[in-house]
Amino acid sequence: MNKFFVFVSFLLIGLLVNAQKPKDLKLNAPDKTGGKPIMEALAVRHSDREFDAKELSLQDISDLLWAANGINRPEGKRTAPSAMNKQDVEIYVLMKDGVYLYDALSHSLNGIVSGDHRSLINPRAQSTSATPPVGLVLVSDLSKFGSNVGDRAFQMGALDAGIVSQNINLFCAGKGFSTVPRMSMDNEGLKKLLNLKDAQIPMLNNPVGYPKKN
Ligand SMILES: Cc1cc2nc3c(=O)[nH]c(=O)nc-3n(C[C@H](O)[C@H](O)[C@H](O)COP(=O)(O)O)c2cc1C
Repeated sequence: MNKFFVFVSFLLIGLLVNAQKPKDLKLNAPDKTGGKPIMEALAVRHSDREFDAKELSLQDISDLLWAANGINRPEGKRTAPSAMNKQDVEIYVLMKDGVYLYDALSHSLNGIVSGDHRSLINPRAQSTSATPPVGLVLVSDLSKFGSNVGDRAFQMGALDAGIVSQNINLFCAGKGFSTVPRMSMDNEGLKKLLNLKDAQIPMLNNPVGYPKKN
C-alpha cells in the first residue's frame, strides 16, 4: 500500500512538472537562400524598439535561430565563431506560450517553462508594441572555458554573445525583421526562471518581430 502511494505521488509530481513545460518543437530545415545580399543588409541595419504584433512563422524562427548560432559545417561548427570553439552561447527563446532552449545539433527547441515571460527582457515596456513576438536571450556558459583562462572567461563569453547578436542583427536586416541588441533585462529574474548555474550569464537579448506599421 505504501509503495503504491509513493509510486502514485511520483507519477503526479512528474505530470505536474511536465505540465509546466511547453512541448519540444522540431524546427524546419533552415532556408539558406534569399534575403538581401550582405552589403545591402549592412546598409540598412539599424535598431528598432517597436514591433508589429504579427507572429513569426515556424520557418522564420527556424531560419532566425540557424542564422544566429546554427551548425553550418559537417564537423559541427557554427554560423557564429566562438573563442577556442567552445560554443558557449546558448539561446533561450521567449514566446507567448513559453520559453524554449535552442538545440543547434538537432535544430529544435526544447521546452523549458510554460507561460509568457517576455516582460523579463523588457521590464519597463510602456506599450504593447514594445513586446516582440520572439525574444532571444543569449546566455554564455563560462564553465565551457575551463579554469585555465582565468578572468578572461567573462570577456570571451561576452564577445561570443556579441557575435551571435550581430548574426541576429544582420539576419533581421537582410530578411526585413526588426531587432535591437539589448543589455538591459531582468538578469536575476531570468536566472531564476531558467534555473541557470552561476557560470551561465545572460549577456544580451534581441527582441525580434516584424516592423511596426505606422
Ligand atoms: C552591447 C550593447 C548593448 C546595448 N544595450 C541596449 C539596451 O539595453 N537598450 C537599448 O535600447 N539599446 C541597447 N543597445 C542598442 C544601442 O543603443 C544601439 O545599437 C545604438 O544606439 C546605435 O543604434 P543602431 O543600432 O541603430 O545603429 C545596445 C547595443 C549594444 C551593442
